Amino acid sequence: MSGQKSNEMLAAVYKKTGDARDVVVVRSVRRPEVGAGQVRVKVAFSGINPTDVKIRKGPTQRQIDGFQIPHMDGSGTIDAVGPGVDLTRIGQRVWVHLAAHESRWGTAAEWTVVAQHRAIPLPDEVPFELAATLGVPAVTAANCLLGDGPIAGQDVLVAGGAGAVGSCAVQLAHWQGARVAATVSGEAKAEMARLAGADLVVNYREADAVRQVQAWSSNVARIVELDLSANLDLDLAVSMPGTSIVTYAVDGEDPVLPIRRLMTAGVSLRFMLLYTLPAPVLAAAVDVVSAALLAAALQLPPVQLFALTDTVSAHEAQEAGPLGRILIDLS
Ligand SMILES: NC(=O)c1ccc[n+]([C@@H]2O[C@H](COP(=O)([O-])OP(=O)(O)OC[C@H]3O[C@@H](n4cnc5c(N)ncnc54)[C@H](OP(=O)(O)O)[C@@H]3O)[C@@H](O)[C@H]2O)c1
Repeated sequence: MSGQKSNEMLAAVYKKTGDARDVVVVRSVRRPEVGAGQVRVKVAFSGINPTDVKIRKGPTQRQIDGFQIPHMDGSGTIDAVGPGVDLTRIGQRVWVHLAAHESRWGTAAEWTVVAQHRAIPLPDEVPFELAATLGVPAVTAANCLLGDGPIAGQDVLVAGGAGAVGSCAVQLAHWQGARVAATVSGEAKAEMARLAGADLVVNYREADAVRQVQAWSSNVARIVELDLSANLDLDLAVSMPGTSIVTYAVDGEDPVLPIRRLMTAGVSLRFMLLYTLPAPVLAAAVDVVSAALLAAALQLPPVQLFALTDTVSAHEAQEAGPLGRILIDLS
């Protein structure tokens, strides 16, 4: 940016919560310095997720530390390391997760600074675009799928199999050797789920959706769920004793739990939130994603690219419920 001082950078910033158009501006801010145990990353792509929108809009209560640069996820190259970090990390290509968690330095900026364990080495062959789509969705999917044990040879059901988390869950489950069914809401999303590796794709809005999944399997071992209220009947219809139904999202009404049916079915309900996963559990999920990248098991979804100066439009596109992912291109 012309007139920008050498210790400054361009960033999308908000100081209070609200609609993107009302609160997000793109301006010069001080470039972050690295502290002990931290790395600074020259950002290539910044990935947007529903959580970034919810935090910026306000329903997810967060303290703003003077200003907030949004976005948890991103990719780029380490250009500075703080005390205690191996100097050989300078120049390393990385994918970044949870950058804006308890930090003002999200990835919607030319640079971000994160604890070193949040900048994960990226294999040379993995493009920065794909790397910026991983963080929140892929780590969530990895924990939901594998947090209760291996799934090789088992049947897995992924609700919303074309969503950001859902698509990662389908790909990871396929890679892990599970048979995968995915629910979606239309033909474009069905095609995405099939490309991700789903063996069965069912439109959950069709009247006989339960029967279609039941005809495929009534012994689903793991269910990756984003709307327990809407899908509990389907989930129970295809469960067996020991099935783990892992819920990672909530919109709308909390369900009334049919405890007798849940007991009789012998299922486990687990609820996961990335922000409260114990550190070793989070690290295990990150390791799964890294292994999947090495195995070329995660593919780039359809993306819409926006310039950093157009971050407001990028947030509005995310709120519209995109087919695929929204990235800010800083490369
Ligand atoms: N717990 C955590 O740590 C965590 C982590 C990541 C994300 N999340 C949350 O999870 C939710 C999804 O995130 P995302 O990034 O994957 O969003 P996304 O990319 O918008 O995907 C959501 C998908 O779910 C589908 N869907 C909606 N209602 C459904 C239903 N009843 N059954 C089956 N599919 C349904 C949507 O398509 P249709 O509406 O067309 O069906 C869409 O394809 C968000 O609320 C996000 O905040 C939580």
